[in-house]
Amino acid sequence: MSTPAHYTYVRNCWYVVGLSHEFPKEKLTGHTVCERPIVMWRTKHGDVVAYDDRCAHKRFPLSKGRLMSDGTLECAYHGLRYDMTGKCVMIPSHPTGPISPQAVVTPFPVVEQDGLVWIWPGDPAKSHLRKPPRIPEVGDGAWESVLVGPHDVAANYLLMVENLLDITHFYPLHDGNIGDIANSRIPVEFGEGEVDGNHYCGTIRKVKNYKQPAYLVDWFHYEMVDRHHTHFMLSPAVTKVVMRNWPAGEEGNAEQERGYVLVHAHTPVNATKHVWRVIVNCPAHHMAKGAPEMSTAQRVASMFPAVAEEDRWALDQQQAMLKYPDEGYQEVFLKPDIAIRRARKIFIDLLREEQPGPKVAAAE
Ligand code: FES
Ligand SMILES: [Fe+2]
Repeated sequence: MSTPAHYTYVRNCWYVVGLSHEFPKEKLTGHTVCERPIVMWRTKHGDVVAYDDRCAHKRFPLSKGRLMSDGTLECAYHGLRYDMTGKCVMIPSHPTGPISPQAVVTPFPVVEQDGLVWIWPGDPAKSHLRKPPRIPEVGDGAWESVLVGPHDVAANYLLMVENLLDITHFYPLHDGNIGDIANSRIPVEFGEGEVDGNHYCGTIRKVKNYKQPAYLVDWFHYEMVDRHHTHFMLSPAVTKVVMRNWPAGEEGNAEQERGYVLVHAHTPVNATKHVWRVIVNCPAHHMAKGAPEMSTAQRVASMFPAVAEEDRWALDQQQAMLKYPDEGYQEVFLKPDIAIRRARKIFIDLLREEQPGPKVAAAE
């Protein structure tokens, strides 16, 4: 076996396909989630609709078609028109004949909440099993939310989850911007649980009198801090990062607190690619030290791509090594890898649930 079986994707999961503002009214967009081609748009009434992007007639991408004044979607090839449920309601070459009940395209469940649009690419009958995780900071007026991305990442999305759950990679990968070797020595606590059917897990790092790396001083002002830093995979779709900083000796002082909530949405295109969005959330009135005219959220978003590029490079390299057979190779787990192990187990359990069989069971 070459690629370990957990580096695939879970279909029965709610995934982020964009922020609400990425779906203006009556604009068709094409997406690929879990190898499913999907056309989406927001209707003139405000609902977001999603169905199979392949016309039932000859597979032409419906996202290349157009929306008509009555709300139907017209395929750009031979003109079949579909209503909002994916049912064909007009065929130009059969103006009077009955329309075959097979002239339908498969709809996908959609939820819009917390300023995000979520899709369920799996079995629609199972979409009630879990809910999209709540992320109240996005779209809340007390917070400023700025999107970084979307970025195409040429790697399996579990590699991104693993990257986020073990930030001992801040040295050496991010040394000098958001990381340093002292970060790797901060003790790691582990947390897990379940909310709305989603098993979550993550790491907690608390440190006192810590010298902040350069970017974090630029964003959050203080050179020496007491700091809480958590990374939690809320579901296979989303990892949430919370950083809270206080001047050293002021831990818990609400007036002095500065920090951010980063929402990493990692949506699989297939087993070797995903789309990565980082939503930077900071208290709306906070300004950056490094650019006092900029809000902290804008400043973080403007500098974050340099950090993201380092992660993308690392994941590219890892993905390339997955093609070799495991023969002669033994993966080592270190103490801070605890959340990675748990995240893999969550993925494996979900994969077993949707495709029971020996292949996934053997991957653990
Ligand atoms: S392929 Fe769409 S109408 Fe023929
Ligand atoms: Fe990173």
